[in-house]
Amino acid sequence: MTVPNDAMVTVAGAGLMGTGIAHAFAVAGFKTCLFDINAEQIEKAKTSIKKTLDGGVRLGKLEQSAADAALKKLSFKTKIADAAQDADLFIETVSENLAIKHAVLKDADTYIKKDGLIGTNTSALSVTEIATACENPSRVIGMHFFNPVHKMKLVEIVLGIATSEATLATTRAFCDQIGKTSIVVNESPGLTTSRMSAMMGNEAMWMLQEGTASAEDIDTALRMGFNHPMGPLELGDMTGWDTRLAVLKYLHSTLGEKFRPCPLIIKMVAAGRHGRKTGHGVYEYKDGQKVPGSGLKASMI
Ligand SMILES: NC(=O)c1ccc[n+]([C@@H]2O[C@H](COP(=O)([O-])OP(=O)(O)OC[C@H]3O[C@@H](n4cnc5c(N)ncnc54)[C@H](O)[C@@H]3O)[C@@H](O)[C@H]2O)c1
Repeated sequence: MTVPNDAMVTVAGAGLMGTGIAHAFAVAGFKTCLFDINAEQIEKAKTSIKKTLDGGVRLGKLEQSAADAALKKLSFKTKIADAAQDADLFIETVSENLAIKHAVLKDADTYIKKDGLIGTNTSALSVTEIATACENPSRVIGMHFFNPVHKMKLVEIVLGIATSEATLATTRAFCDQIGKTSIVVNESPGLTTSRMSAMMGNEAMWMLQEGTASAEDIDTALRMGFNHPMGPLELGDMTGWDTRLAVLKYLHSTLGEKFRPCPLIIKMVAAGRHGRKTGHGVYEYKDGQKVPGSGLKASMI
């Protein structure tokens, strides 16, 4: 199936993800409205989208005319009534908090088209629970995008208990038309991506703690042996071990013993070694660059 090109898409939450998602729909030619209650966020999003479009043109990935056309497709609002009116697809990507998401979806439910869909970009909350804010939960579906949205090809589509076949089919069509590859996941903790990535990062930390190999060699093993673009310890430094630990604790409580967080992660987080964002994780970082040979040594653990 295909979605008509004049379909209207509203993205709620002009943060990191909302900005990227609005950019993707506008470049694909959809009328796209980006909404946030914070006008400052809207201004930041405008600048960021322009910068990404300019970068695309500079790198030869986008014609100037396509960048100009994308800008024309975009509108920005700070009131949900103006933003969601008559939307065919409403994607919420507001802060990861159930009460906030419920409030936004309750409003969206009254303003979007009667046959419109509601997507949620939640990373970890239950789509089924989020959907309880809507009168008709069969039109609510998870659309889990990845950062940076303009580069990452995947959308994990998540089915809540009430999500209908028709909602799934239309959501897949939207994903196809913005050039993303979609996979379908039944609601479950960590979906496929966070669950897999948490498992690998945790296992890599167990190996480091046991002195199986150096941090550098564990990362090189996954990069060279399996063609991963980044090793699991480098990836943990990028994601942040504080975030990783929170995900592991949740997966441990829901999926059991195999997700018990490695004590080395707990120790690193307690020490404030959260990764790139604090300048020190498994590796040290200076001016945003990894310091060669700085990987945590077994003798320090
Ligand atoms: N950051 C990631 O890598 C990532 C990846 C996939 C999914 N997610 C999920 O996407 C969602 C957003 O994450 P983010 O990193 O973009 O967060 P963010 O903090 O950058 O942005 C959240 C935005 O929501 C806005 N907001 C808060 N309450 C609102 C309301 N009532 N109405 C309208 N806007 C409101 C805030 O002003 C802010 O601009 C979360 O559910 C998160 O779990 C994040």
